[in-house]
Amino acid sequence: MKIIAVLNQKGGSGKTTIATHLARALQLDGADVLLIDSDPQGSARDWSAAREDQPLTVVGIDRPTIDRDIKNVARKVDFVVIDGAPQAADLAVSAIKAADLVLIPVQPSPYDIWATADLVDLVKQRIEVTDGKLQAAFVVSRAIKGTRIGGEVTTALADYGLPILESRITQRVSYPVTAVTGMTVLEMESDGDAAAEVRQLANEIKQKFN
Ligand SMILES: Nc1ncnc2c1ncn2[C@@H]1O[C@H](COP(=O)(O)OP(=O)(O)O)[C@@H](O)[C@H]1O
Ligand SMILES: [Mg+2]
Repeated sequence: MKIIAVLNQKGGSGKTTIATHLARALQLDGADVLLIDSDPQGSARDWSAAREDQPLTVVGIDRPTIDRDIKNVARKVDFVVIDGAPQAADLAVSAIKAADLVLIPVQPSPYDIWATADLVDLVKQRIEVTDGKLQAAFVVSRAIKGTRIGGEVTTALADYGLPILESRITQRVSYPVTAVTGMTVLEMESDGDAAAEVRQLANEIKQKFN
């Protein structure tokens, strides 16, 4: 079982969009997947409930005991994806403790990059405590196609000393549009560019566990 925590204290960075899509991509690829909604706002639970025949199991654990609770609910799955809460406090700490990989979605803007500093500190402490067993990576989220900010963002993020995934998630209206009905771009536009970038992200993450 591999646990991927999608974390960033900043609301709107794309945690829920990425967590739901990543979980579905891994599932469509044949894995057993559980999505844990650690945000008291319950966005991933709302997303799940919007589709009657929702194929993904979504469980809410919005107490700072995720690392302990997860063992009881997720013993048999291949992947657990944790949709993070907008904070860098106790809930995030317990998600970091539970995780094998912390994925930090960050929007391509200096304010968003600076705002991850506290989380990066927590993650680095945990990497040290676990002797490097915990992995972490940034993923650029909501990137605007055709803009140059991309390169500058990569340089700014590199200062934090954590890897940056090659895959990115682009700003596309199809992400919120498909979410309305508890779907993803993977089932509504499986041949499209959005689905392709989500599959690329899932594949890059799977490779981290090889
Ligand atoms: N790649 C994207 N393209 C377009 N809209 C997005 C994208 N990612 C997120 N959004 C929208 O931005 C808002 C915040 O995204 P969300 O995934 O809920 O972030 P978080 O969970 O970090 O608060 C939502 O309305 C969501 O639909
Ligand atoms: Mg969210």
